[in-house]
Amino acid sequence: MKKHILLLPCLLLFIQCSVPVKKADAPVPQGAEAYILAKAERAEHKSAEAVGTHYAVSTQGIFATQAAKKIFAQKGNIIDAAVAVSFAIAVERPHSTGLGGGGFMLFHEGKTKKTYAIDFRERAPLLATEKMFLKADGTADSNLSQNGIMSAGVPGMVAGLIEIHKRFGKLPLSKVIAPAIDLAENGFPVYPNLKNALDNKQELLKKDPAAREIFLDNKEKAWPMGHILVQKDLAKTLRKIAKNGKKIFYNGEIGDAFVKFFADQKGLLSKKDLLGYQVKWREPVKGNYKGFEIYSMPPPSSGGIHVVQFLNQLENDNLKEKGLLSTTSINLAAQSLQAAFADRAEYLGDPDFVNVPTKGLTDKEYAARRRKEFSETTARPSTAVGHGFVVPPHESTQTTHFSLMDDQGNAIASTQTINGQMGASMVVPGTGIVLNNEMDDFSAKPGASNLFGAIGTNANAIVPKKTPLSSMSPTIVMKDGIPKLAIGAPGGTRIISCVAQSILNYIEFNVPLYESITMIRYHHQWLPDVLDIDPPGPRPEVLRDLERMGYKVQIREVPCSVMAVAHEDKILKGAADPRDIGTSVAN
Ligand code: GLY
Repeated sequence: MKKHILLLPCLLLFIQCSVPVKKADAPVPQGAEAYILAKAERAEHKSAEAVGTHYAVSTQGIFATQAAKKIFAQKGNIIDAAVAVSFAIAVERPHSTGLGGGGFMLFHEGKTKKTYAIDFRERAPLLATEKMFLKADGTADSNLSQNGIMSAGVPGMVAGLIEIHKRFGKLPLSKVIAPAIDLAENGFPVYPNLKNALDNKQELLKKDPAAREIFLDNKEKAWPMGHILVQKDLAKTLRKIAKNGKKIFYNGEIGDAFVKFFADQKGLLSKKDLLGYQVKWREPVKGNYKGFEIYSMPPPSSGGIHVVQFLNQLENDNLKEKGLLSTTSINLAAQSLQAAFADRAEYLGDPDFVNVPTKGLTDKEYAARRRKEFSETTARPSTAVGHGFVVPPHESTQTTHFSLMDDQGNAIASTQTINGQMGASMVVPGTGIVLNNEMDDFSAKPGASNLFGAIGTNANAIVPKKTPLSSMSPTIVMKDGIPKLAIGAPGGTRIISCVAQSILNYIEFNVPLYESITMIRYHHQWLPDVLDIDPPGPRPEVLRDLERMGYKVQIREVPCSVMAVAHEDKILKGAADPRDIGTSVAN
């Protein structure tokens, strides 16, 4: 009936219409109306925990979660679903991730009991130099490292996803990419987090014709909430990848568009960079906590090492008895983070270029020594907290996350990114691909801090082909070799705190999954010497005690969204942080 009503004006006016009418052609709701519509659309897809027995999925999107559901319905396996999510989330969150970025994936394969840590993060171009982000006066130029052509590293997303799919996927690539193509072609309403990113980056997006065309209206303003964002060029690019695989990106038409754009803009990336890009299959970082096995991302992420170190340092404290969000628990956890971040600033970098003492930093005895330095009664000023001495010293290191599990004992945790909101705020003409600004994750110089306040170090200096240090912490927690929790988050350096605390909530405090990932969070990254606590903060008496102990507490958001799936007595559960548009599904 509805179809016929829509068809009538087309017939009367002899204009070409397709049925159903594309959302993109519908009148665009504005202002409050648009906001309410966008909210209602999200609410429809929300539930605290999705529960099933065959699979569970949690992503930071609505359509990305639905993409996984479609793939499972077509009898695809967990890798097909994860790759479908990756492509779909690249469309749904163009400000967080995309084909111009990179990521990490942790995959536990049920049938072989192997856990893979796959690194498809961006690399420094061959022409990059150690001092490329220094001004003439020797200070770090954060504008250069965070915005525009110089901030972009060599993208790894397409290589990573296709290599993973080739090795483990079951459905053809065209089926796996189809939901992303559909979403790019038909669009979706702009939602609060995306609107916020477009507003923040409006002035930069204005300067780049291809980005302006997609993300701004004809008055060069960010699209309003509820506007249907269609990404036609991206749909074309995805179609080409579905047909031709990764060669069209690294040695074909799409790569050529990158090379031309970088040459026109006087950037560094060249054809050689694209031809030489390699996905790296790494050994996961391993730890254990009270009988649970922790598998997480190794260097070039700092995340896995510090999640394990954080837990190790607190293992013998019986925090459960001390109370969830009690003064003692927050104090000890804050000092555990402070020590871990001091070590991050000393030791962490790309293991292909520097020696990262992974074993030493995740060692139980090392954790016990570090734990002895904590004070039970006062905050420790960060000036009094140095890095530890690892034995053996120097042994031979805005984003999105999703997690999946199935009834075959498989689990996936993957964090993917273009780094800051809207990455470099540039789109490669004709491709719809937003460039990353991952080069800012390198240290412009020792002591200078990056977008997330992470302290610059020698170990993370820029070298051609090197990978910038990350905090992304995709993690799988297992019991007796069976995945129990797959978890991760976006949020720069906050990722480490958010992932570590959510694990602690779940396995130490036995908090239900949804509450484990949504609870008030705290973050201390050594420098600056501040303890951030999510609003509305802990109990007033706990806040008073922490301040009396000497903490500089700031009640402000610890900005990360945690996406997790869990396996509890043959039941699979998914939960997505309600602070964003994330959703979960299970069957
Ligand atoms: N770009 C954020 C991270 O990798 O930590």
